[in-house]
Amino acid sequence: MRFIKLSLPILLLLFLTAGALPRVTDRPPDPRVEKLLARMTLDEKIGQMSLFTTDWGSTGPTIREGYKNDIRKGACGALFNSHTVAFTRELQRIAVEEARLKIPLLFGYDVIHGYKTIFPIPLGESCSWDLAAMEQSAHIAATEAAAAGLHWTYAPMVDIARDPRWGRVMEGAGEDTYLGCRIAEARVRGIQGKGPGNTDAMIACVKHYAGYGAPIGGRDYNTVDMSERFFREYYLPPYQAAVKAGAMTVMTAFNDYDGVPASGNKHLLTDILRKEWGFNGFVVTDYTSINEMVNHGVVANDKEAGELAVNAGVDMDMQGAVYQRFLAQSVKEGKVKMATIDASVRRILQLKFDMGLFDNPYKFCDETREKEVILSKAHRDAARDVARKSIVLLKNDRNVLPLSKDRKIAVVGPLADTKNDLIGAWSGAGSGDDCVNLLEGLSNAGIRPVAVAKGCAVEGDDKAGFSDAIQAANQADVVLVVVGESAWMSGEASSRAELNLPGVQEDLVRALVATGKPVVVVLMNGRPLTIPWLAANATAIVETWWLGTEAGNAIADVLTGVYNPSGKLTMSFPRSVGQVPIFYNERSTGRPFDPNSKWTSKYIDMPNAPLYPFGYGLSYTTFSYGDPSLNKSTFKKGESLQITVNVTNTGNRDGEEIVQLYVRDLVGSVTRPVKELKGFRKVFLAKGATTAVSFTLTDKDLSFYNKNMRFGSEPGEYDIMVGGNSQDLKKIKAIMR
Ligand code: NOJ
Repeated sequence: MRFIKLSLPILLLLFLTAGALPRVTDRPPDPRVEKLLARMTLDEKIGQMSLFTTDWGSTGPTIREGYKNDIRKGACGALFNSHTVAFTRELQRIAVEEARLKIPLLFGYDVIHGYKTIFPIPLGESCSWDLAAMEQSAHIAATEAAAAGLHWTYAPMVDIARDPRWGRVMEGAGEDTYLGCRIAEARVRGIQGKGPGNTDAMIACVKHYAGYGAPIGGRDYNTVDMSERFFREYYLPPYQAAVKAGAMTVMTAFNDYDGVPASGNKHLLTDILRKEWGFNGFVVTDYTSINEMVNHGVVANDKEAGELAVNAGVDMDMQGAVYQRFLAQSVKEGKVKMATIDASVRRILQLKFDMGLFDNPYKFCDETREKEVILSKAHRDAARDVARKSIVLLKNDRNVLPLSKDRKIAVVGPLADTKNDLIGAWSGAGSGDDCVNLLEGLSNAGIRPVAVAKGCAVEGDDKAGFSDAIQAANQADVVLVVVGESAWMSGEASSRAELNLPGVQEDLVRALVATGKPVVVVLMNGRPLTIPWLAANATAIVETWWLGTEAGNAIADVLTGVYNPSGKLTMSFPRSVGQVPIFYNERSTGRPFDPNSKWTSKYIDMPNAPLYPFGYGLSYTTFSYGDPSLNKSTFKKGESLQITVNVTNTGNRDGEEIVQLYVRDLVGSVTRPVKELKGFRKVFLAKGATTAVSFTLTDKDLSFYNKNMRFGSEPGEYDIMVGGNSQDLKKIKAIMR
C-alpha cells in the first residue's frame, strides 16, 4: 500500500467533511481516475468490476464463455487463468486496441507457491519458520509469474487452520495466529516487492476473508461459526497483518460467518476491513461466491445476490457474471447507488494506474525476460534451500539418519519415483517434468540403492507388490519407504474424513518393519496424518510434505546429512481423527486434564496430547535449554520485559534450532489460552556452542479482547515459557502492574 503525505488543506477538508481525522491510508482523488470515470458508461463501469477465467485452466465451474467478446465490449476488466507473454499480449491487445476506452486488463492467477519453479506447499514451507526464505520464495514466484505476463496473484492464503481434515490446510501457515501473522507479512512483502508496477513483483490478494479455515467438520465450503471474540483473536489477525503489510487486494471466502456469507457481509467487508483496518485496495470475491449466496439461502436470486455483495463492499465479481448481468438494472431501480459503483471502479482503476498499465499495457510482456527468468538456476537453488528447511524430522531412533554411504539401502514405496505429486496442489504453471524425484535426488547424492520396489499404490488394497518390497528390504541394511498421500488429496474440495495413510501403505510399512531391518519412513503429504503405529514402530520418520521442483535433491540433502534438519511443525499431528480439531493454544477449562482424575477434561480412550505437538521437530544434533531469566520480574504497561535463555548445542554436529517463546496469562477477565506463541528465533549453533537468545515483550504483545470486547492487556501474573516445541518448555513468572 502506498502511503502518501496529505497536505494541510486536504487534511482539513477531510476532517471537515468526514467529521474525523483521516486514516493514513486515505488518499485524495487521482485526477487520471476521475477523468476516465467521467467518460465511462454504467456498463463499462460494471465491466471493470467483472473478472472471468479464460479457457486455459479451470479452478471451478465454468459458467461464462465468450470472454474475448467481453473484452471488446468493455464488459470485463480482468482475467484469470491466462498466462505466458504470448497469450496475455494477445488479450491485452484486444482491450487496448478494440475496446472503446482502451482500459488495460489486469491478469490474475493462483501463484500460490511458485509459477514454474515450484516451492514447498505453504504449510510445508511454514515449518521452516524462516521468514526471509518465505519472503524470497514468494518474491521469486512473483518474479516468474510477472515475467509470464501476470500482474496479480491470489495469495497469500492466510486462513488459520486447526482441522487437518480440511484439504486446504496445505495452502496456509498452520494453526497459530502469531506465526500466521508474521508469515502473512513476509509473503505480502515478497509478492509485492518494491510495489505496483515493478516488473519483478505482483499485486497480492489476501484470502479467504474471513474464517475459511474453520469449516465445521473440516468439510470444505461448510459453515463457519464461532464467537466474535474467538474470531477476532485467532482468525482475523493474519488478514489484518497482511493488509497492514500493504496487500492491495482482498478475496472474500466461500463460507458464511455468523449466518452471513462472506461475500455479502458488510460487517466484515466494510466495518472491519475498511473502517477499522483502513484498507483502501479492492475486494474481489472468490469464484462464483456471489451466486452461491442463493444456495446459502440469504437471497432469492442472482440479482439480489449482486445487490447484497456490492452494498456490503465487494468491488469485483469473480466468474459469477452477476454484476455483468444484473447490476445495471439494480442501479436503475435504486437498489444500488451510482456512488457505490463509482467507489469500486475508482479502486480498480487506481491500481491499474499505479501499475503503470495505462502508460504501457505491455510492460509485463517481454519474451526475453520470460525465457531468462523462469526456472533459472538461481530460482531452483532457492527452491532447494527452502525445501530442505521445510523438512521436519519426527523420529530418529539409534541415529539411523543421516544415512552413511557405505550402508546398503533399499528404496520402497509408491511415492519414491513420483514427479507429478511433488509439486502439490495449487502449483501454478508448474510441471512434474521439471521436478527431481527422490530416486533422482538420491542418485545425484551418490546413493545407488541395492533394490527398488513399489510395494503398493497410494490407494487401493492390492498387496501383490509386497513380496518384492520385502525381498528388496532383505537385501539392504536400511529400508527407505516413501509413502503418503497423492497431491490431489489435499487442496480445494479435498477434505478427508480419515487422516491415516491411504490404501494399504501402512500395511506395507508393517511388513517392512517385520523384516527386522531399520525402516526410515519418508512421508509426502499435504496435511498432518494420524500415524501412531509408525511413530511407535518405524525407526525414523521424515515429514517432507510436497516440496516442489527440487524435492528429491532437498530430501537427499537431509537423508545424507548434507543439511541437518531444522523444521518444526506448524500444525499439531493428532493421534486420531477423534482429537480433531486439535491445537496447542486451547483455553483453560474449569477441569484441566489430570491423568489421575476421571472428572477432568479428557478422553477415556486416548491421551489429550497430540502425537507430535505444534513447534516440534528433531535435528541430527541435540539442544539443551537453560532456565530463562528476566531483566525484571515486574514490569509496567509501556515498559518492556526482556527474556533471555541460554541454548546449547549438546550433540556432535552443527545445527539450527527454532527457539520458541510462549506466554500464559494466569488470571484474565475472560478465559485465556494455556499458552500462546509470542516470539521465535532460528539460531545456528556450532557443536558444543552456547548462545543467549533474547526476546522482548511489552503489554501490547499481551493484549486480547477483554470481557467488554475491548482490546488491551490486563495487569497480573504471567507464565513466560521458552523451549524447542510447544510442550517441552522452561518457565519463569513475570508480573505486569
Ligand atoms: C477458488 C479458490 O477458493 C481460490 O483460492 C482461488 O483463488 C480461486 N478459485 C481462483 O482460482
